[in-house]
Amino acid sequence: MTDTKSNAMWGGRFAAGPDAIMEAINASIGFDKRLARQDIDGSRAHAAMLAHQGIVDVKDADAIREGLLTVLSEIEGGNFAFSTALEDIHMNVEARLAELIGAPAGRLHTARSRNDQVATDFKLWVRAQMDAAMEGLEALVRALLGQADAGADWVMPGFTHLQTAQPVTWGHHMMAYVEMFGRDLSRFRDSRARMNECPLGAAALAGTSFPIDRDMTATALGFDRPAANSLDAVSDRDFALEFLAAATICAMHLSRFAEELVIWSSAQFRFVTLSDRFSTGSSIMPQKKNPDAAELIRAKIGRILGANVALLTVMKGLPLAYSKDMQEDKEQVFDAADTLMLALAAMEGMVRDMTANRDALETAASSGFSTATDLADWLVRELDMPFRDAHHVTGALVKMAEDAGCDLPDLSLAQMQRVEGRITEGVYDVLGVHNSVASRMSYGGTAPVQVRAQIARWKERLA
Ligand code: ARG
Repeated sequence: MTDTKSNAMWGGRFAAGPDAIMEAINASIGFDKRLARQDIDGSRAHAAMLAHQGIVDVKDADAIREGLLTVLSEIEGGNFAFSTALEDIHMNVEARLAELIGAPAGRLHTARSRNDQVATDFKLWVRAQMDAAMEGLEALVRALLGQADAGADWVMPGFTHLQTAQPVTWGHHMMAYVEMFGRDLSRFRDSRARMNECPLGAAALAGTSFPIDRDMTATALGFDRPAANSLDAVSDRDFALEFLAAATICAMHLSRFAEELVIWSSAQFRFVTLSDRFSTGSSIMPQKKNPDAAELIRAKIGRILGANVALLTVMKGLPLAYSKDMQEDKEQVFDAADTLMLALAAMEGMVRDMTANRDALETAASSGFSTATDLADWLVRELDMPFRDAHHVTGALVKMAEDAGCDLPDLSLAQMQRVEGRITEGVYDVLGVHNSVASRMSYGGTAPVQVRAQIARWKERLA
C-alpha cells in the first residue's frame, strides 16, 4: 500500500518522497497509535452520518464500518504493521482499511480533515482520562474516609512551620486531604463538562459544503453538542491544558501528602507504619524499610507540571487554525495521564494499608506545649484577661516549664500562681490534649464531633 515515491494519502502533487529525516520529524505514529480506538470510533460515527445524509451510499458506509472493526481488532490484537511512511494513526488506519475493503475506503474522508479528526480523537482520549482520574480520586477519598473513621478521636500534634502548634485529631488531618482531593475531583468534573463538544465536521478549518449532520456524530460519540466554531474546534487544545492543570494541582496535593507520609513513617516520628506491600528494603542496611512509593509520588509532579508547561508553550504563539506544532500535544499528555493514574493508585493502596500508631500520635500530641493556646484561652475566659496579656502570661509559663524540663500540665498550681496569682485548679482541665481537641467545636474544627460530621457529609456525597 505504501508508495515509496510520494505519500499515498497526500502525494498527488509531489514528484518525490520525503527525506528520511523529514519522515522522522513528521511522523507521529510512534505515539499516536494510542488513539487507535478513538480514531476508529470517530470514523465509524462519521461513516454512519455520511450514509444517513446520503453523502456516501449505505453499502459503502457499511463496508467502511465493518472494515474499521477489523482494523481495530488487528491493532488491539497486536497484528498490525504500523508504517512511519504513513505518518500517523489516521492514515495508517485508512490505508489498512483500503487494503481490506478496496475502493469504498476512499470515501471515508469525505467532509472531514485530519484536523477535525485528530481534535476529536484526542478529546475522546482526554475525556476518558478525566473519567479515570475521577474514579481514582474517588477510591482515594474512600480510603481516606476509612482512616478518618477509624481514628476520628485519636489525638496527634497539629503543626505550623512543622513545629507543634495545637493538638488535632487524626480524623481531622485525614479529612483535610479528603477536601483537597474532593476539589480535585470537581475540577476534573467541571473540565469534562466544558470540553464535551465535538470538533468533528469542522473539517480542515472552515466547515464543509457537504450537508453533514454534526449533531448526529456528536451524539454518537457521547458529546453534548458539536463545537460551535470550526476554526476554534480544530485549533484549540485548552481541554488538554485543563486536564493537565487539574492533574498538576492534584499531583501537588498527592506530593504534599506523600511528604507527610515520608516524615510520619520515619523512626523519629513513627506516626504511621506503612505496609510491607507499599515499602521497600535496602540492599545494604537490613533494618531499613523505605517509603519509596511515597517518595516517588512526591516526585511525580515534576513530569505532570512539565507536561503542562510544555503544552502551554507549544500553544501560546500559534496563529489560527491548525499548525503542525499541535502534533506535539500528545506525548506529554499521555505520560502525564499515565503518571497521574499510577500515583493515585499507589496513594490509595498506601492509605488503605497503612496503620496509624495511636500511642505515638498521642505522645507527640502531648509534648511541645501543644495546649498553650488552650491555656491562654482559659485565662481570657475565666479571668477576663485581654488575649494579648493572656498570651504573655502563657509564654512565661511555657518558659518556666521549659526550664524545669517538663510540660505544661506538670507544673504545680503554686508554680503557676507565681506567674499569675488568680489561676485555679480548673486550668488543668484544658491542659489535656483530649479536652483540647474536644473543645474545638467550631464548624470544620478538630473536635471529634465535628470530624464525624465531616465524615458523614462526605459519605452522603459519595453515596
Ligand atoms: N498527526 C497530526 C497531528 O497529530 C494529525 C493532523 C495533521 N493535519 C495536517 N494538516 N497535517 O496533529
